[in-house]
Amino acid sequence: MALDRDPSAPLSKNVHLLRWVEKMARLTKPDAIHWVDGSQQEYDALCDQMVASGSLIRLNQDLWPGCYYARSAPDDVARVEDRTFICSYSRDAAGPTNNWEEPFAMKRRLKTLFDGSMRGRTMYVLPFSMGPIGSPMSRIGVQLTDSPYVVVNTRIMARIGLPVIAEIDKGDKRVVPCMHTVGMPLTPGRKDVPWPCNPEKYIVHFPETREIWSYGSGYGGNALLGKKCFALRIASNMARDEGWMAEHMLILGIEDPRGEKTYVAAAFPSACGKTNFAMLVPPKGFEGWKVWTVGDDIAWLKPDSSGRLRAINPEAGFFGVAPGTSKKTNPNAMASLARNTIFTNVALTPEGGVWWEGMTDEPPAECTDWRGNPWTPEIARETGAKAAHPNSRFTAPASQCPTIDPAWEDPAGVPISAIIFGGRRATTIPLVYQAFNWSAGVYVGATMSSEKTAAAVGEVGKVRRDPMAMLPFCGYHMGEYFRHWIRMQRDFSETPRIFHVNWFRKDEQGGFIWPGFGENMRVLRWIIDRVRGRAVGKETPIGWVPHYEDIDWNGLDFPREKFDQLQYVDRTAWKTELLGHEELLIELHDRLPPETVYERELQICRL
Ligand code: OXD
Ligand code: MN
Repeated sequence: MALDRDPSAPLSKNVHLLRWVEKMARLTKPDAIHWVDGSQQEYDALCDQMVASGSLIRLNQDLWPGCYYARSAPDDVARVEDRTFICSYSRDAAGPTNNWEEPFAMKRRLKTLFDGSMRGRTMYVLPFSMGPIGSPMSRIGVQLTDSPYVVVNTRIMARIGLPVIAEIDKGDKRVVPCMHTVGMPLTPGRKDVPWPCNPEKYIVHFPETREIWSYGSGYGGNALLGKKCFALRIASNMARDEGWMAEHMLILGIEDPRGEKTYVAAAFPSACGKTNFAMLVPPKGFEGWKVWTVGDDIAWLKPDSSGRLRAINPEAGFFGVAPGTSKKTNPNAMASLARNTIFTNVALTPEGGVWWEGMTDEPPAECTDWRGNPWTPEIARETGAKAAHPNSRFTAPASQCPTIDPAWEDPAGVPISAIIFGGRRATTIPLVYQAFNWSAGVYVGATMSSEKTAAAVGEVGKVRRDPMAMLPFCGYHMGEYFRHWIRMQRDFSETPRIFHVNWFRKDEQGGFIWPGFGENMRVLRWIIDRVRGRAVGKETPIGWVPHYEDIDWNGLDFPREKFDQLQYVDRTAWKTELLGHEELLIELHDRLPPETVYERELQICRL
């Protein structure tokens, strides 16, 4: 299908935007410029073009209507944290947990890399809004990219095109310029490949000028710049300056059988089940309860004029980890991705469908793996080869989620009553506890940790400190970020309660003690009852925990001894845990808020 307009004709009248596009085109030297209007016709035309060039495979439309499949280069499969930079004017402003380089030197290097980087390709001008268009909490960016894959994925993940241009042309919102190239110019004689990229990668943020420059990767958070780069790293800077919070959090609403609705936001490190939690199906015994999804990855939170904390999901889609997602573990995600979805690095079945580890109990007899090689269960047994890459993804429209909250696009956001932190920890950390108050809760979030997953390049399984799940995403000094959290409380009329959960505690045999998934509803119920002043808790040195009797066990036979094992606060293990906190706190010591230091002292005394 061809476009019925000239895509090179500028869609905006904003002179700053027009000049910037011209200047960047002079730098990157594309063969053509395409202004993205965001229409279905344009989306279809881009997908057709990528199918023709071999970058996308159209799935069997009877089985997977509107769905496509992409396979990345084998060395471009995850976020590259060691190639991610926060180039603030001073090194100190970026803090010890971010890679920093002098911004002017970095800009010079990037300009050299971007010079001619789009030769032989089309430069897409991709306007996008993070958050519903017109919401006072939304923010706008324009990404210049030579990747049509990025354009079609962003159409699912954000609001794009003409309505955003209309906002830009009003001229009252600051636009974040986002430069992106896959870094593989088609110089004469060079043949294109299905997934162009460059072994050299740079994901660079300039916090003061609110700019993003990304070079060399076409994958996920490295390339869909609205997501981690804008909605977290740049937005965390905006939020600190403007008095709000940009967080790596899902948002969900719990509705009880009487229709009482409570919203919570929850931060978990990458690939720890945020998407599953955001789409939780209440278990047996919770008939009449509903869980509503607002977002599965990022929350922007701001107190309203009355001091009530409210949250929007700045995204419009889910960029979810495929492996482990099934009708059993997350039927709502499966329904969301059943159509109009782009799959990347999963396996392709002979029928023209997709498959990944954990999708069905029985693997297909044969398929083509994420590298394009034949795969069978026998090959997997012999070689350990995975059919789908552990960080393979689906890009699916949020509107297709059966549990999408009716208020998910409310420009005012939804009211947040509790914040939940969580990690993947085999030992020490109980199933659930409530922090004594806001500053104790900030300490809990600041010292969060998890065993590393495949969402970023690196050693899987190692415990790492990941404060508020923001270690890879905070665009400034982490100590200042804790100060910002502490400061935020002054603007609340009602302080949200803070909790910590760990679904992953193991017994001596190495098995998970807690069944997880829908059963997490029981924990959620205790949390909302605590928030609403209806549930009892027991005081421990680390916070309030439920007694066995405080949990609603209706429909689940879960023995008291197992619950006690799950909730056990082992003082010796906790002393070691507290020593583990030092690892990060020492690094941040000169910027830590005094509250962090005092909370730590209190905790030591209580133990
Ligand atoms: C993500 C991540 O993709 O956190 O959401 O890595
Ligand atoms: Mn994430």
